[in-house]
Amino acid sequence: MQARYTATARGLHWLTAALVLVLVILGTWMTVFEPKEEAFKYQLYDWHESLGFTLLLLTLLRLGWRATHPVPPLPADLPGHLKLAAHGNHAALYVLLLVQPVIGFLATNAWGFPFKWWGVVPIPSPIGQNEALAPVLSAIHFWCALLMVALVLVHAGAALWHQFVRRDGTLDKML
Ligand code: HEM
Ligand code: HEM
Repeated sequence: MQARYTATARGLHWLTAALVLVLVILGTWMTVFEPKEEAFKYQLYDWHESLGFTLLLLTLLRLGWRATHPVPPLPADLPGHLKLAAHGNHAALYVLLLVQPVIGFLATNAWGFPFKWWGVVPIPSPIGQNEALAPVLSAIHFWCALLMVALVLVHAGAALWHQFVRRDGTLDKML
């Protein structure tokens, strides 16, 4: 029986996946399918922003856990270029899980909206309102979201390929 990720790492992984899904749905809803009613639209923004910031904290916790608890290795017989691709994919996902919420937070501030986490904890803005920077930050947030979705699709596809085509038990490590 091969080593699995710890229960905490597995829990954090699937919680992250669920939160990213909800964030992408909320983000798309409030921008592409913008609700007519202003109050409801701002409610969606509040949920998206607070949930996104929660994911940032969760990712910091997850990286702290990872640094102190060894992760199971990739299959020993996996060719070098696929090992590189797997590590690259994971590293890129971690970078985006950190960068995307920070960009979203800065964009919110640059558009002139102070951010209160779950309407309770005010998070001080390092940049404040900035009309020149706001559209740039929003564009970066949009492209990072697209990149993240693409990386997740490759990631999930690879996990299924490992499990059902290569049959090396990779998915079992995360279940
Ligand atoms: C938003 C969705 C997701 C994100 C952000 C994400 C992120 C990650 C990250 C960062 C790792 C590396 C863990 C580490 O070693 O520290 C990982 C591992 C893993 N993920 Fe995901 N994941 C997502 C969705 C999924 C889905 C849908 C599946 C299955 C279909 C999946 C299957 C796995 C597996 C099997 C591993 C372990 C790979 C290995 O042993 O090297 N993930 N995931
Ligand atoms: C990993 C976390 C996050 C993901 C995956 C994510 C994803 C998205 C997506 C898919 C959109 C719609 C596409 C777009 O117009 O950009 C969006 C929009 C938006 N997000 Fe996020 N987001 C995250 C975190 C945050 C955080 C923490 C904030 C603020 C505190 C935030 C603020 C915004 C704002 C204000 C918009 C509206 C468009 C804009 O002005 O950029 N997001 N997000």
